[in-house]
Amino acid sequence: MSAKKEILVETDGPVGVITLNRPEALNALNHALMEQLIAAVEDFEAAPPIRAIVIAGSERAFAAGADIKEMDQATPAQMKADPHLSRWDRLGKCSKPTIAAVSGFALGGGCELAMACDMIVASESAVFGQPEILIGVIPGAGGTQRLTRAIGKSRAMELVLTGRRFTAREAHAWGLVNRVVPVEAFLTEAKKLAQEIAAKPPIAVSAAKDAINKALDVDLDTGLSLERQLFYSLFDTQDQKEGMKAFIEKREPRFVGK
Ligand code: HXC
Repeated sequence: MSAKKEILVETDGPVGVITLNRPEALNALNHALMEQLIAAVEDFEAAPPIRAIVIAGSERAFAAGADIKEMDQATPAQMKADPHLSRWDRLGKCSKPTIAAVSGFALGGGCELAMACDMIVASESAVFGQPEILIGVIPGAGGTQRLTRAIGKSRAMELVLTGRRFTAREAHAWGLVNRVVPVEAFLTEAKKLAQEIAAKPPIAVSAAKDAINKALDVDLDTGLSLERQLFYSLFDTQDQKEGMKAFIEKREPRFVGK
């Protein structure tokens, strides 16, 4: 097995940062990279001091898609038997907030990886797209589902059927991207947003994330009921008592994550 590090992992206080590290292939998402990425996400999820996760690429490329050279000769049975694709779902299920820091190409699986995160901070140079149709397939890691939910059916249909790329500004106008910042600031801004969220009470953050994600999947009554249950459950946390007491005492709260 290759010992090459396809990702770099570091922490900045309560923020875990994962940087994709295959510059020679524009961070194309091969099996090794995805395995290391998911393992790092799982490690950060299990580490109590980590409260938010940033996934970044380089200035030139967030990721140029799944590694075409790993799948060009595959059969349907081989693709289906490959545990690799189902591992992709793990990122979307992470209980801690995730932020994609995107600059340059975010194409195919790269766009899908960014969309599997909770938020996207993009540089002015970011280029998104689902170009799979141009190589004879369709998005396979959430592109048809997440893009449609994020920007609506008509736009998603046009982009997936033509494979046309779209800019950070378009992505922002359509609600796919949280903010667009100068190239030199994309990582700093993503980390800043992560730090801001990391300072909030983590059990409430996780509950809010869960409830918002459910809003896309369930009918309104079910969603409202789920939200209410989560809201009630937070009254069992020390952070709720502290947050409300601090408000009444006119001081900053000291959240402990319990
Ligand atoms: C494997 C890739 C790659 C990819 C780039 N490279 N993208 N290798 N898989 N997805 C490699 C190139 O082969 C090349 O290697 C090196 O990275 C630099 O790329 P160039 O093409 O020379 O760079 P440039 O001319 O600047 O063009 C950049 C680009 C182009 C526009 C991003 O590389 C491109 O179109 N890439 C493919 C984009 C794509 O179709 N993505 C969707 C993949 S399918 P060498 O060795 O030649 O220097 C997908 C399905 C997901 O993602 C399904 C779920 C898993």
